[in-house]
Amino acid sequence: MPETAPVPTHLGIIMDGNGRWAKERSLPRTAGHNEGLKALKRVILAAKAEGIKVVTFYAFSTENWKRSEQEVAYLMHLIVAKLHGELAFYNRHGIRVKGRGDLSALPPAVQEAIASTEEATKGNESITAVIAINYGGRDEICRAVNRILKTNDQKTISEEEIRQNLDLPDLPDVDMIVRSANERRLSNFLLWESAYAELGFYEALWPDWGADEIQTICRDYGQRVRKFGGVE
Ligand code: IPE
Ligand code: IPE
Ligand code: MG
Repeated sequence: MPETAPVPTHLGIIMDGNGRWAKERSLPRTAGHNEGLKALKRVILAAKAEGIKVVTFYAFSTENWKRSEQEVAYLMHLIVAKLHGELAFYNRHGIRVKGRGDLSALPPAVQEAIASTEEATKGNESITAVIAINYGGRDEICRAVNRILKTNDQKTISEEEIRQNLDLPDLPDVDMIVRSANERRLSNFLLWESAYAELGFYEALWPDWGADEIQTICRDYGQRVRKFGGVE
């Protein structure tokens, strides 16, 4: 039997291109975001089928507050609607949902939707879907350091202490970060956790993603040689 190529345990996805998808159709940007949520559902099922254990979706960055008030309000509304409205989907497919980011700065309805969805899906074991909202890699590291400083009067801080104070310390580092819409940057996503992540950039706009993209990503990942500073 041929050896099966490994799949990433933890895949990070920078969902990009919703605005361009809408523009191509002369639709408002919000229509692109709505369509993007359908892609998210296809992708999580495809990831589960491939045996990926954790997918972190970058949904709203600490920089996305710069967008128009209307777009921000729509994104917040969509997050609440899809957390509450898709609960049956998460539970049917064994999806555990977790939030990541500075959730304390989000509107109360968003905080409540994340907390109640986390609670309602905490026993699910097929795959973990992490939704990064008001998330910035630099912000996460700063918050971790500030937490340590509150309880610790040492003069030095170790990498392990920082790691333990990140938002979701029980999750493994991200093995691969992929981005849609052919943009090639991290945009402040998982900066600490991506120290040794493989990177992949794909042309399709996020609302067009589905099982094909996940299969391509798994094939690409299986061909990477991860050395972690050592030799093969
Ligand atoms: C990604 O799509 C969604 C979010 C950042 C919330 P964009 O809205 O960035 O789409 P483009 O880059 O304008 O096409
Ligand atoms: C990154 O996409 C943030 C999310 C996907 C949530 P952006 O579209 O905001 O990133 P930039 O501004 O093009 O780097
Ligand atoms: Mg974008």
